[in-house]
Amino acid sequence: MENSDWLKRKHLEYINDQLYFGGIRTIDLANQYGTPIYVINEELIRDRYRALKEVISMEYTNNRIHYSVKANTNLAVLKILESEGASVDCVSTGEIYLCLIAGFSPERIIYTSNNITNDELRYALEKNVIINLDHGSQLLRLIKIADELGINTKFISFRVNPEIGGGYHDHCITAGRHVKFGILEEDIVDAYKLAIENGFTNFGIHMHIGSGILEILTFKKSAEKFLSIVKKVRQETNIPFDFINVGGGLGIPYKPSENPLNLIEFSTTVLSIFKSSISDMGLDNPTFCIEPGRFLTAEASIILVEVNTIKKTKDKNFIGTNGGLNILIRPTMYDSYHHIINCINKNRDKMIQGDIVGQICESGDVIGRDRNIIEPEEGDFLAILDTGAYGFSMGSIYNSRPRPAEILINKGKSYVVREPGSFYDLERSQHIPDYLKK
Ligand code: LLP
Repeated sequence: MENSDWLKRKHLEYINDQLYFGGIRTIDLANQYGTPIYVINEELIRDRYRALKEVISMEYTNNRIHYSVKANTNLAVLKILESEGASVDCVSTGEIYLCLIAGFSPERIIYTSNNITNDELRYALEKNVIINLDHGSQLLRLIKIADELGINTKFISFRVNPEIGGGYHDHCITAGRHVKFGILEEDIVDAYKLAIENGFTNFGIHMHIGSGILEILTFKKSAEKFLSIVKKVRQETNIPFDFINVGGGLGIPYKPSENPLNLIEFSTTVLSIFKSSISDMGLDNPTFCIEPGRFLTAEASIILVEVNTIKKTKDKNFIGTNGGLNILIRPTMYDSYHHIINCINKNRDKMIQGDIVGQICESGDVIGRDRNIIEPEEGDFLAILDTGAYGFSMGSIYNSRPRPAEILINKGKSYVVREPGSFYDLERSQHIPDYLKK
């Protein structure tokens, strides 16, 4: 059956054949709050943050972990990480707005935009967050807007495209000559020169190569390339970088057969390259930044769904649930694997193989393809694991299904941290022109 150590690392265990998450029986949560629901485990988020902070700090103390909030912007999640001392990585003004509400001060917020608009530049300048651009022309627009606002900004960062990408799916590889992100090596020195010419005095530099990476070698190669580019900028401009940001992308074991990322090896590898490079460059203790999203929150959440229809045919079995691509798009969009397990192990020996599907009117609405699980009965609950990153945040109201609630669990208690959506949500921002009302 499930590898119990693998489950344990995700704070999941079976006691008397009943699945517990963070010490709480999952069927109790499903019965209390209804399904589908996202359940978020506070302790696990804190554990992941502390583990990463500890290994990085062992190598280099002047570091910041910027949680990449696109993974999960629930305000309780943001508050938890804020209280741990994390910084954040935002990719939209909406994310900045939420992080400010959650209590992150502007100097802990880096805004890594792409194809940024003037309104977004204005918002970022007004809120005084760190701005990370990915084209020189954006800097000229920023200067103009800062002048209009009477804001004297001296701090800028650029995103480098180091051309060494990584990640588990093409959509998630964010470096390379055919990828839209970042500034290529051949253009990066000019971007910094432009900033110097325009009076900027404080600088950061950034890359992010992709997502869901479990091989240390990928991090090693990209860090080497990135730091060689940083060195080149330093040689040609003499910039004293305040921070050097190596991005996120730290993977997690979605499958019981996968090993977790070796954090110590990751940290020693990347930081030894970083430390020797900054010493070569004669930089004085710049801040080392890293911006994981998935690593901090993915394993901290499960989705509970109810089985409502078991359809057996000669060719295929379908285990129909009230989940679907509206609440978890990753399997459909990236062919991602999410382990799915029973909340109660009835009939231990009776297994079923089939597709675990949702309620959305698309054939691609498959949460788990060709899975072997203990045969559930209609009315039983299943847990979809590792949904805390890019789960709710990529969800939708497709098929006009209101969004599920989010429940936080901590120390044996549960809290509604997001109310479920309602039918009113489906209509509230719409207007029917008068002539159509007749
Ligand atoms: N920094 C930047 C600039 C990013 O664009 C991202 C993710 C991260 C950090 C955090 O990456 P992470 O540590 O979470 O891998 N929707 C996809 C993932 C797309 C990530 C996009 N950028 C998924 O569900 O797997």
